[in-house]
Amino acid sequence: MQQTNIASEDRPLAGMTYWQRTFGCQMNENDAERVAGMLEEAGALPVLTIEDADIAIFLTCCVREKAELRLMGQVASIKNVPDVHGAKRIIAVGGCIGQLDGPDLREELSHVDVVFGTHNLGHLVDLIERRIVTGEPQVETIEVNDGFASDLPVRRAKPWHAWVPIMTGCDNFCTYCIVPYVRGREMSRSIDDIENELATLADAGIREITLLGQNVNSYGRDLYGEPRFAQVLALAGKSGVDRVRFVTSHPKDLLPETIEAMAEYPNIMPQLHLPLQSGSDRILRAMNRSYTVERYLGLVHDVREAIPDISLSTDIIIGFPGETEEDFQGTLDVVKEVGYGQMFRFIYSKRPGTPAATIVDDMPREVLQERFERLECLAQESSLAENEHEIGKTIPVLVEGVSKRDAGILAGKSPKLQTVHAQLADGMRIDDVIGSIMAVHVDSATTNYLQGTLV
Ligand code: SAH
Ligand code: SF4
Ligand code: F3S
Repeated sequence: MQQTNIASEDRPLAGMTYWQRTFGCQMNENDAERVAGMLEEAGALPVLTIEDADIAIFLTCCVREKAELRLMGQVASIKNVPDVHGAKRIIAVGGCIGQLDGPDLREELSHVDVVFGTHNLGHLVDLIERRIVTGEPQVETIEVNDGFASDLPVRRAKPWHAWVPIMTGCDNFCTYCIVPYVRGREMSRSIDDIENELATLADAGIREITLLGQNVNSYGRDLYGEPRFAQVLALAGKSGVDRVRFVTSHPKDLLPETIEAMAEYPNIMPQLHLPLQSGSDRILRAMNRSYTVERYLGLVHDVREAIPDISLSTDIIIGFPGETEEDFQGTLDVVKEVGYGQMFRFIYSKRPGTPAATIVDDMPREVLQERFERLECLAQESSLAENEHEIGKTIPVLVEGVSKRDAGILAGKSPKLQTVHAQLADGMRIDDVIGSIMAVHVDSATTNYLQGTLV
């Protein structure tokens, strides 16, 4: 059936429909926009449900076991459901599990038609086409990145926002983490290339960009022999794009010139994600994080001195093997001292192949749960405090859509990345204001959002 749909060499998937589901971090979100761009350029059309799709694509994450199992369960459950045309639906699995498991993934799930990795995203259409023409499953993962996703066609999930990958991979090898094994070594994009893309995005009216990399602070080390992230920030600062964000910053590589650049350009948003992981020096050492609590707090001090009203967010791992009550207390102390606007909390998950996986991990479930809940309480308190701090101010809000519960209420993001709700004005249509920046007076706050009035 599908063979007859191949209309021309340029549009090998013409007439086919696709559906995709994405797990994991911003790297995959960016990759998903490229997958959509490539498939649509090849003639495929997006559909909202897998039942209507000739092609189903999964971009996967293996950073924690739970996410991995849930996803494998989903892929397993769609076995042998025919597509809308009665033919076998093409199931393609990519992203980090694709990269990690390669051919083994097909051994486990024989109904998977295409397996691709993180480094060869650009080959996806070819692989699907080959599967259609030959009827044979296609598995391709390669070891080294074959280019930056920015060179591929794109369909942006939010038309006003662009991810700008500036580097890929990670050389840090934190002992718990699988990412360096699935995203490879650090590889930076040339600064000229980034500058050109920023100019194109500004010309295209993009309102917000997020500079992307596993460790943006070490941008350029492989290419230029020294980190040059501050230079990238300066380019973004002068780009004319209204809002600039970046993820992720490893504390050990956060340089004074980077903090200066953040303070210098008003379009660099006052929000910094600075993963702490643990507030115990002993555990930080066992994690191979290369900083101490004192150094981390010193950075927080420097950042707040340069940008007094900045909002900080963080990642914390609970229950790294050997974490004692005293170690955990250290984490709570840092959390209280810093006061994060947002805190992502993860229970340690053993990842085979990582150094920490060899350490005995016998923490009782109840202890983990109890620590998780204690951290949860603090997280809620500090989010609420940070949100309440905005009450009475008038802030610029980038409109992203309407509230899930009420189509008459617009929802957007503050400079500090808080969700903001405000009643739409009489006669105002959300389609006319989506993607624009509007002034909102903040009237009240909850843990999860700010409530305000359009000015
Ligand atoms: N490069 C980024 C984030 C990578 S993964 C950084 O360094 O910040 C995102 C988060 O997942 C990490 O910050 C960490 O908190 C968490 N994580 C990674 N591996 C984990 C594991 N094995 N168990 C639990 N959480 C983990
Ligand atoms: Fe993983 Fe550490 Fe690299 Fe982040 S810095 S991706 S936590 S190894
Ligand atoms: Fe997951 Fe891969 Fe990102 S393992 S967190 S999707 S880099």
